[in-house]
Amino acid sequence: MRVLFTGGSGKAGKHVVAYLASKGHRVLNFDRVPLGLAGVHDLIGDITDAGQVYSAMRTHAGYDEMESPGGAQLFDAVVHFAAVPRYGMVPDTETFRVNTVGTYNALEAALKMGIRKVIIASSETTYGVCFSDGVVDPKVLPLEEDYDIDPMDSYGMSKKVNEVTARSFQRRFGADVYALRIGNVVEPHEYATLFPALKDDPGLRRRITFSYIDARDLGQIVDLCLKKDGLGFQVFNAANDENAVPQPNSELLARFFPNVPLSRPVGEREGLLSNRKIKEVLGFKEQHPWQASVK
Ligand SMILES: NC(=O)c1ccc[n+]([C@@H]2O[C@H](COP(=O)([O-])OP(=O)(O)OC[C@H]3O[C@@H](n4cnc5c(N)ncnc54)[C@H](O)[C@@H]3O)[C@@H](O)[C@H]2O)c1
Repeated sequence: MRVLFTGGSGKAGKHVVAYLASKGHRVLNFDRVPLGLAGVHDLIGDITDAGQVYSAMRTHAGYDEMESPGGAQLFDAVVHFAAVPRYGMVPDTETFRVNTVGTYNALEAALKMGIRKVIIASSETTYGVCFSDGVVDPKVLPLEEDYDIDPMDSYGMSKKVNEVTARSFQRRFGADVYALRIGNVVEPHEYATLFPALKDDPGLRRRITFSYIDARDLGQIVDLCLKKDGLGFQVFNAANDENAVPQPNSELLARFFPNVPLSRPVGEREGLLSNRKIKEVLGFKEQHPWQASVK
């Protein structure tokens, strides 16, 4: 597929773009800064500028495409990752503005131009635990997509609003719009630095319910979303199979979430940010469990 990818120069995007390109997709990266990956053209632009976003929807994906007559073609799909990626990086007003306006622009431009598949990056922070003021319990575990999400911070709020925006656009245009509630993204080189400390201090990951998503496995999830048509509006958690800490759930739940009810029995190692839906609906099969990279 020809894919317009926003935010492909970032931490998650660079791995997902590389994965998609390796699977044969033609990707154009729309970002404020270049990615510089061979075979992937960089279109420098700003997602908060609606004119630029509309313009990008119908563009050559590289100079080689100018060899075939027919002008700039509409993309088959848009994957929208560009954002302020967490709370506290810039003032709250700017986090909310960039994330909500940027996502509105990407959805409106894609769907009004006739693109039938849009995948947006939402976040596990919508569950309202990660960036809560004070230590907050989830209402129920494991975290699954039917949860009544209630974030209290500007970033989580922006991602919740984006899911609402996405659902509204999907109703109006009938295309497929999938929102990925992405867990904490781990790049291959980060296993050595981040994970050893969790053996003695799993509490470091309490706010993200001990979850993670390998950046390359996130690539697989996006590819599966590109391939799976006809689901309308969907929300999917994007997480690996197991928690990122070695302690079993019986210990983690008793120590960190003693008052949180379970909606169903959970396996001892099963991720508390549940990836059951992507496995059942999309056929996700984890390729990069953390245990393969951490001694
Ligand atoms: N990293 C995580 O752990 C994590 C977890 C959950 C969700 N997410 C979401 O995944 C997506 C990617 O996150 P990331 O960690 O790669 O972030 P990142 O900051 O590394 O990458 C974001 C990219 O978006 C670009 N960008 C920002 N504002 C832009 C604008 N106005 N116009 C054009 N490009 C712009 C940046 O230049 C950057 O390359 C984001 O939507 C983020 O909210 C990330």
